[in-house]
Amino acid sequence: MAAIPAGVIARLKGARHVVVFTGAGASAESGIPTFRDQQSGLWRHFDVQSLATPEAFDRDPALVWGWYEWRRVQVLASEPNAAHHAIAGLAARVERPTLITQNVDDLHERAGSRKVLHLHGRLCAPYCSACRSEYQAAPQPLQAQAGCRLEPPRCDRCGGRVRPGVVWFGECLPSGPWEQSVEAACRCDAFLCIGTSSLVEPAAGLTRAAIAAGAVTVQVNLDSTCLDDFVTLNLRGPAATVLPELLADVWPAVE
Ligand code: OAD
Repeated sequence: MAAIPAGVIARLKGARHVVVFTGAGASAESGIPTFRDQQSGLWRHFDVQSLATPEAFDRDPALVWGWYEWRRVQVLASEPNAAHHAIAGLAARVERPTLITQNVDDLHERAGSRKVLHLHGRLCAPYCSACRSEYQAAPQPLQAQAGCRLEPPRCDRCGGRVRPGVVWFGECLPSGPWEQSVEAACRCDAFLCIGTSSLVEPAAGLTRAAIAAGAVTVQVNLDSTCLDDFVTLNLRGPAATVLPELLADVWPAVE
């Protein structure tokens, strides 16, 4: 990891409220594909309009349900990586931690993070598209593969079609997590933006809000992003290596 200027270290160490904001790059080293990476990004291989909109689910529910079940199987087969573990460990070492994620996997929780603000929903929390009751998904759908079609189950209560528990394009973010995230971004002392292209609104606006509010902002990413010129510090490299080193340097574990 590149040397961090002493002034930035001092501001991070002095931070009382620390926000960690993660995107797909945080789970990439657990084997979960990102969305926009050149080779392996999901939206390079699959059509967003056919899979991640309410209209797509109305048009072809089996295609959409099958695709999200395939992704859920990928998550079930993966493990949290060193970035997830480092973030979970940080919670005990700062006065006020807030963890916000755009990821629909549960790898932060499985690493031990207790309160996670999920802005884009969760793959493991499907619900009825008619009455919005939660639905207990089968533990492991064996046939789910990329491009497979699976008929969505029916709601136990009203018989409506069960839908994936994620936020689709054109839908609002869940209001509670979103409001808490905005408040945290606007009031925090330090904001760490990990593995996101910062291209999807309104989530990407959180980092800008933290910058505008005067927080010290650190971006960890393999590549450059549209925020490179605006954050306090850019750390270029894989999150599972760079983030544990950063957090151990700034907030060493108490033995
Ligand atoms: P993207 O795929 O847009 O961006 C992933 C970012 O992570 C890129 O900037 C990569 O350079 C970086 N990256 C990849 N591997 C990394 C690694 N090992 N370490 C550090 N950085 C790495 O994913 P998001 O920004 O999360 O929304 O995408 C935002 C939203 O767009 C997603 O939540 C999803 C998608 O459409 C919904 O599904 C609603």
